Amino acid sequence: MKIVHVVGARPNFMKVAPVMAAFARCDAPDLPIVQRLVHTGQHYDQRMSQLFFEELGLPRPDINLEVGSASHGAQTGRIMEKFEAVLVEERPDLVLVAGDVNSTLACAVDAKKLGIPVAHVEAGLRSGDIGMPEEINRIVTDAISDLLFTTERQANGNCHAGEVHFVGNVMIDSLLAHRERALARPTLHELGLATDGTVQRYAVLTLHRPSNVEERERLAGLGEAIAVLGRHLPVVFPVHPRTRSRIASFGLDRLFGAANGFRCVEPLGYLDFLNLMANAHVVLTDSGGVQEETTILGVPCLTLRDNTERPVTVEQGTNRLIGAAPAHVRAGIQAFLDAPATQRTPHRVPELWDGHAAERIAQVVVDWWRARRA
Ligand code: UD1
Ligand code: UDP
Repeated sequence: MKIVHVVGARPNFMKVAPVMAAFARCDAPDLPIVQRLVHTGQHYDQRMSQLFFEELGLPRPDINLEVGSASHGAQTGRIMEKFEAVLVEERPDLVLVAGDVNSTLACAVDAKKLGIPVAHVEAGLRSGDIGMPEEINRIVTDAISDLLFTTERQANGNCHAGEVHFVGNVMIDSLLAHRERALARPTLHELGLATDGTVQRYAVLTLHRPSNVEERERLAGLGEAIAVLGRHLPVVFPVHPRTRSRIASFGLDRLFGAANGFRCVEPLGYLDFLNLMANAHVVLTDSGGVQEETTILGVPCLTLRDNTERPVTVEQGTNRLIGAAPAHVRAGIQAFLDAPATQRTPHRVPELWDGHAAERIAQVVVDWWRARRA
């Protein structure tokens, strides 16, 4: 069985690493498994891509399409053109895509049109907000996938084609596999948050959704609202390249400066970022994956969005949707500051977020393959 795995953007790496490792363990004389890793090159900075390969033990990509940044149509089209040629050459039995980025959509469509089965890891998530590019990617990818692997049970109800399997969360497989290594790192010391073994209270912020950062008024409003928190504790902000360029072009460097409590740093590697989140007093984010990771780490997460495609993190985890309008963010931050510490983190571990999701995926695929051959 030959499988082509696709990665393209930062959140793909931690999802695909455990899946490739699980397939490697299933490789057997009666069922040899050949795996190829294709990187579309959607993300390409060392700190958005290369660093994760080293940290997560991902093999070097067999092929890098080097598409780089562009508008949605141009980027998706470039990936489709180049990935189609790879598929014609490689002729895999299955293409495995993960998540909801443009690379996911482009490669799934290519494969399906060539009659190659597609497996979608992290299927069935829906924010209900079709204005979000990722929502379009999710809907299209799920509609054409043959095997749909879901992270939460209610996602199964959003899948209307293919074989649907609730397997748990591969992102959490990575978290659990790397947590100990991450916690052993001198991250807090290096960021000046720990001296003589005493850890300072701090918040962590990540921000990259176009709806939050592409408009000056919104980004400035968010900066002003979060600066209220910055009066109480430092807000460590690993800045996504999209956001970095907007802060600069909108002239907001002072707002996001030290005087308002922000500590802007380059995007962090996976292990340092895990360490930073695990020790944080609170995390503020518009990331998808971070909502899930904070749930497992038991760290309060204030999500700067009006909706989430990951409702289990709110229902069972530590996630609170405080909205994205600056007035709502201000109110959400104030409510957090006012809440007694003991009420902050009631949480349960969502079903099957147990570190074994990738094994379940590999087993389903192996069974599917054997049934096809029989
Ligand atoms: C993409 C995904 C988003 C995901 C995010 C994770 C889509 C539609 N969006 O958003 O779902 O949450 O990745 O981080 O697929 N840039 C660099 N260096 C890089 C990568 C990007 O400088 O290595 C800059 C470029 O100016 C680029 C911009 O960031 O135009 C946006 O990159 P892009 O991949 O288009 O979207 P993201 O916002 O990263
Ligand atoms: N992450 C990281 N360094 C950072 C910020 C995030 O390693 O500076 C990790 C984070 O722990 C999670 C993943 O990147 O595993 C989430 O990616 P991102 O927020 O870019 O995308 P999303 O999940 O929103 O699609």
